[in-house]
Amino acid sequence: MASANALRSLVRPSIPVSRRIYPIVLAGASFSTGSTLSAAAPPPIKNRRDLPKKTKKTYKKNANIVAVKKPNPGERRAFRKRIQLSNNSALPVQGLDELSAETMVEDASKGKIFAIPDQVVDQLRTLEAFKTTQTWNLFRRPHFLVRQETVELMSRLRDSKTNKEALKCVLTGSRLSGKSMAILQAMSHALLDGWVVIHIPEGQDLTNGNTEYSPIADTTDPMQFAQPVYCFKLLQNIYKANKPVLEQFQLQKDWSKLTNLKRGATLADLALSAKESEYAWPTIHALWTELTLPGRPPVLFTLDGLAHINKISDYRDPSFNEVHAHDLVLVRMFVDALSGKTELPNGGAIIAATSENNSQHHPSQELVLSQLEAGQASKEIPKPNPYERKYDERVYDALKNSFVMRLEGVSKEEARALMEYWGASGLVRDVLNARTVSQKWALGGHGNVGEMERVALMTMRM
Ligand SMILES: *[C@@H]1O[C@H](CO)[C@@H](O)[C@H](O)[C@H]1NC(C)=O
Ligand SMILES: *[C@@H]1O[C@H](CO)[C@@H](O)[C@H](O)[C@H]1NC(C)=O
Repeated sequence: MASANALRSLVRPSIPVSRRIYPIVLAGASFSTGSTLSAAAPPPIKNRRDLPKKTKKTYKKNANIVAVKKPNPGERRAFRKRIQLSNNSALPVQGLDELSAETMVEDASKGKIFAIPDQVVDQLRTLEAFKTTQTWNLFRRPHFLVRQETVELMSRLRDSKTNKEALKCVLTGSRLSGKSMAILQAMSHALLDGWVVIHIPEGQDLTNGNTEYSPIADTTDPMQFAQPVYCFKLLQNIYKANKPVLEQFQLQKDWSKLTNLKRGATLADLALSAKESEYAWPTIHALWTELTLPGRPPVLFTLDGLAHINKISDYRDPSFNEVHAHDLVLVRMFVDALSGKTELPNGGAIIAATSENNSQHHPSQELVLSQLEAGQASKEIPKPNPYERKYDERVYDALKNSFVMRLEGVSKEEARALMEYWGASGLVRDVLNARTVSQKWALGGHGNVGEMERVALMTMRM
């Protein structure tokens, strides 16, 4: 069959001779008829597969395929979460002071912009205090505005150190009102003042089921869980950011069951002793135990995204029951400190931030916070909704001893200071006067910093 076909195609010309295309022969040019002819003539049709195909025109796919290297696992996420803290297109702003431990406590600092010292910038970066929602990438170097609320919060931090009594504080307010910035400011103050700082940048990361977890031996009813990989990274960050302070203090308890450290080992040695994630949680626990002994530096323990740790987590226990976030031991450690169950004999602060614009309604947390806020203002205490069935006693216990601090818009004077800073950085061309400041302040939802940035720097961010 095959040979017969082949023979036929040899015998019969596949297209009429008259339609053959002959090469143009240039005078004097040498050529070979055979090869040029066979290149010009279409291939013989042997079966229907050789018929000219109707090509479907696709304009989208495969039009211009250029080999692009696929990003490695985690690369896209890293790009999305990348923090850029300087921008060479911005003008350096002269004449602003650098932050010091005392700066943010002083009334005179209200409404002023300060530069964060480079050393602290590195520590804050290690602790993951900077967020992608903030506009650091537009300026030459990181600065922040000290607001009225900043001074109030920092004064409370200072008092907690003086009185050796922990500040337990929940920051609340609308979206983009500066809660995460207030946490960053508290961290800066603590780092400058020789505290140990521990920061959980996103409560969500602990409860959304995206990090490994393992049950803790001998815990039943309810079973408790450690998150080894998360804890390992956290421990390394704690070590890197707090090394100079941790090196100054020797261990007081015997941790020989956990690690074989020499006599006279320091807190830094302890933090460094966990070489595998399996030992991360026991080591964090040991470090925390040491830090809460008398004679240690004050501790600042902060968490952003409180609502995410005051709920049922996305984890399941081996019998497929839901796991309450408070049964994750790292969360537990934070919650116990926030509720006052763990005392901080050297002073210090536990600060959590939560947005009022969470997509999910969180009845227990909202109720407690509104009750605390009303109590602080000597107003009538809101009552629980009798029809609400989802109140969670554990959330109430976690929050009942905290001080609620509300962050909303900045004042007009503070807005003016911010806009002058933006102007000096070359980002705002408007002439600054009472009218333009008022206008931006109003457009930014009465001084909501994030909204003002959106209004004034919008073109820059796109
Ligand atoms: C630097 O600032 C300019 C505006 O001044 C902005 O367009 C650019 O995106 C910024 N660069 C980065 C890397 O954010
Ligand atoms: C956030 O919530 C407040 C009050 O609950 C509301 O006034 C504001 O418009 C909300 N903001 C956004 C961006 O949803």
